[in-house]
Amino acid sequence: MKVSVLGSGGWGTALAMLANDCSAETVLWGKFEDEIAFINQTRTTPLLKEVKIPNEILATTDKSQIKGSDIIIIATPSFAVEENAKMLRDEDLADGAVIVSVAKGFEKTTLRRFSQVIAEALPNNKIVVLSGPSHAEEVARKMTTCVVVASDDESAALTVQNALMNENFRIYTNLDVIGVETGAALKNVIAMAAGICDGLGLGDNSIAALITRGISEIGSLGVKMGANVKTFAGLSGLGDLIVTCTSRHSRNRRFGQLLGTGLSVDEALKKVGMTVESYYATESAKKLADKYGVEMPIVNECYNIIYNNGDINDAPVRLMSRSGRNE
Ligand SMILES: NC(=O)c1ccc[n+]([C@@H]2O[C@H](COP(=O)([O-])OP(=O)(O)OC[C@H]3O[C@@H](n4cnc5c(N)ncnc54)[C@H](O)[C@@H]3O)[C@@H](O)[C@H]2O)c1
Repeated sequence: MKVSVLGSGGWGTALAMLANDCSAETVLWGKFEDEIAFINQTRTTPLLKEVKIPNEILATTDKSQIKGSDIIIIATPSFAVEENAKMLRDEDLADGAVIVSVAKGFEKTTLRRFSQVIAEALPNNKIVVLSGPSHAEEVARKMTTCVVVASDDESAALTVQNALMNENFRIYTNLDVIGVETGAALKNVIAMAAGICDGLGLGDNSIAALITRGISEIGSLGVKMGANVKTFAGLSGLGDLIVTCTSRHSRNRRFGQLLGTGLSVDEALKKVGMTVESYYATESAKKLADKYGVEMPIVNECYNIIYNNGDINDAPVRLMSRSGRNE
């Protein structure tokens, strides 16, 4: 089994280490010479502190090394997924490979899910989405993790399950690609809101309320988009939402926390210093809520803070003074 990972950031590197642990011949392809040179010189990455990258993993910028892979994981930030899927097609590198998408978000201008973006670039390949509560920092340290792989094609999901599951990393299969992807994309917005509550000092009750009302919002939109409501109670829905809203590893939560303590959007993005998918996902979520006519009060408040320079202190007040509802 040969597995190639595109994107040498935290998640790409952790997934390459998992593939290597599962005895696959593993290629970690990165676009940037300096990043790959650093990995090769030190067998570490600043994105995964105190983690040693095994020598068996081939870290390279040479695209030709990807050829012949059984599985290709696209683990770049969401803005670079289309570019990299097209690179695989244009360089004729993906022949017969199952393509795994791990980006969490929607394509910014067209609001497509990333499995759709990849399928359009690579129409002859089977596409699988991998998602769930899986911080790279913990997966790289072989800490207990459960995720889901979703595909319209069950055999493709089983291929990934068989290739990447081990005693530390348990994989469930699911046929609801829309549900898995919408849960993954939207949870980052709620996590940012949880960070804001934390930054404002609103307490644990507010975080629990955000998680549960957040999954309700996510589910309402997801079902309108064609998802199965049950998926939102699973690993890629509630599971990922809980970890992102509560974990110190979550950069989306951290982004919100920094906003809550008074930093501007630009200052908070700069301070986090890594990909903050919630920044993009908030705009997409707002557009999708409008498009499908779904009421998403938490998303609306996040959008107002990030894109309309809204006063952060007004958001919880507005959410709490909405008219009474049934749960
Ligand atoms: N970090 C996690 O725990 C985690 C877990 C699940 C999913 N994800 C998803 O994985 C994706 C990558 O996240 P990450 O945490 O590895 O990000 P990161 O910020 O750690 O790394 C981003 C990396 O992407 C690469 N990159 C940037 N532009 C590129 C381009 N144009 N082409 C190729 N590579 C490019 C660079 O090598 C950079 O190091 C995101 O969509 C994220 O939502 C991350």
